Amino acid sequence: MNLKNKTVVLGVTGGIAAYKALELTSRLKKAEADVKIIMTKAAAEFVSPLSFQSLSQNPVALDMFEEPKAWEVRHISLAKAADVFAVVPATANFLGKAANGIADDMLTTTYMACKAPKLIAPAMNTNMFENPVTQENIKKLKSLGAEFVMPAEGRLACGDVGTGKLADIDLIFENIARVALSKDADLRGKKVVVSAGATREALDPVRYLTNHSSGKMGFAIAKAAYLRGADVTLVAGAHTCPEARGINTVNVSSALEMRGAVLSAAEDADIIIMAAAVADYRPKSVSDSKIKKSGGDISLELTRNPDILKELGEKYAGKKVIVGFAMETEELIKNAAEKCAAKGADFIVANNLSTAGAGFGTDTNVASIVRPDGSAEDLPKMSKDELADIILTEAAKL
Ligand code: PMT
Repeated sequence: MNLKNKTVVLGVTGGIAAYKALELTSRLKKAEADVKIIMTKAAAEFVSPLSFQSLSQNPVALDMFEEPKAWEVRHISLAKAADVFAVVPATANFLGKAANGIADDMLTTTYMACKAPKLIAPAMNTNMFENPVTQENIKKLKSLGAEFVMPAEGRLACGDVGTGKLADIDLIFENIARVALSKDADLRGKKVVVSAGATREALDPVRYLTNHSSGKMGFAIAKAAYLRGADVTLVAGAHTCPEARGINTVNVSSALEMRGAVLSAAEDADIIIMAAAVADYRPKSVSDSKIKKSGGDISLELTRNPDILKELGEKYAGKKVIVGFAMETEELIKNAAEKCAAKGADFIVANNLSTAGAGFGTDTNVASIVRPDGSAEDLPKMSKDELADIILTEAAKL
């Protein structure tokens, strides 16, 4: 996901988890955010400001009274620049000050002066975290509009085991991105259904027929739609992706199960995107017990699975936005255009299995947007996250 033109003010307070904010800074920079770091003096005891300066490519604000480089009141200019104000990790001391209006250093004065959405990820010893005073402070900050990414359970630096470990950096990054992008969330109020992954067609209790879909393309679309404010239902077949946090995920196995879940979610959807690789055929009969091997060859009788995209087209063409995919190995555009017209989709995202960097399992894709009239827009190789945004922008236009 891209955070170009977004400014993240990242406050770092003095706990052992301060070093993890370096990884977060690097993730934010990779997403093209402008990252402005404010460290407390205690944080600078744990990690050198120079590390943050190098990774963020911005000067680090540490001292309220340092000689200004230009005429500006630093805590006010930082507060105004922020699209999101994150504090990672946040100590019990910071929570106490922020909840009670104490502004006695660069971080807390900027926090007080900032009207941007706030996101706080606490990390501390379990007893400190569970202390009723800390819990009250969190409650108060939440009631004042701050969002929290709560600490995880685990072994803490002090040797205790319990809640207090800084949440996963991926999770914190995703939440910062969601908040930073929420101002221009063009899909807010829209219901989006996305299918992802491979279906599995059982032969017996042990074996099934499937394909190589990893789910990455569908999960990328679901995540991008979520970040753009949509209410997303992800119907996931077999996949290798991490859990799609914050997204209503319905796990299915066979094409018949996927059909049931997609059709039911589609009823009140605005946009439906079929990125799943659905098996066209399933074994005609499923054995209750493991099929025993015999001396010779055996034959499998297959029967057609329903075409979910086609059913969606028949029911909802012109009423909802319907997007399909086409996985081809030859005559990409011609075959995709025929599929688009036959299945009643608004457009098809066509990808060719034989193109390097496209298709199953890759983090990238090379695709063309193909419309029912046969017109096609060829896109260069890009990450599945970037392609997801393009697909959603096209769908949103409709
Ligand atoms: O999951 P990844 O590893 O990231 O890989 C991504 C992908 C290659 C799976 C994805 O980019 C893709 O191409 N998905 C569609 C694969 C596919 O089944 O293509 P198809 O040409 O066979 O089907 C055309 C369309 O009809 C697809 O939208 C498919 O979801 C849908 N379909 C197909 C069969 C069926 N019985 N029901 C359907 O709804």
